Amino acid sequence: MTDQQIPWDDLAATARDAMERAYVPYSKFPVGAAALLDDGRIISGCNVENASYGLTLCAECALVSALAMSGGGRIRAFSCVDGEGNTLMPCGRCRQLLYEFRAPDMVLMTVGGIRTMDEVLPDAFGPQHLA
Ligand code: THU
Repeated sequence: MTDQQIPWDDLAATARDAMERAYVPYSKFPVGAAALLDDGRIISGCNVENASYGLTLCAECALVSALAMSGGGRIRAFSCVDGEGNTLMPCGRCRQLLYEFRAPDMVLMTVGGIRTMDEVLPDAFGPQHLA
């Protein structure tokens, strides 16, 4: 599958559905994330906040948890949306979360178009440094 053949519209729609489930009483900033895995499955997650603000879980946290819980795999493509359904850049911490589960050819839909993992997290620290 080329980067252009990735079902970006399906990913964005899944991310929007996830965004609708966000628990955001504090920031009122819902986020939804969706990923296409290397086996063709699409998974998603939403942000879940907490009265102890610093414990907030980003949508990407839920997404990588869904990945593990549904049998694992590698992320081929990723899309994230805000409360208006517009593309949102994953925060720095979440780029690291996604990096852990990347497929070698992983790409992200970003505000600047389709980007590789290396473009959004250059010279990343990762599992390879612990081998
Ligand atoms: N948020 C995410 O879920 N993912 C990101 O990549 C950026 C930020 C959430 C965390 C918090 O609930 C809200 O957006 C405002 O920061």
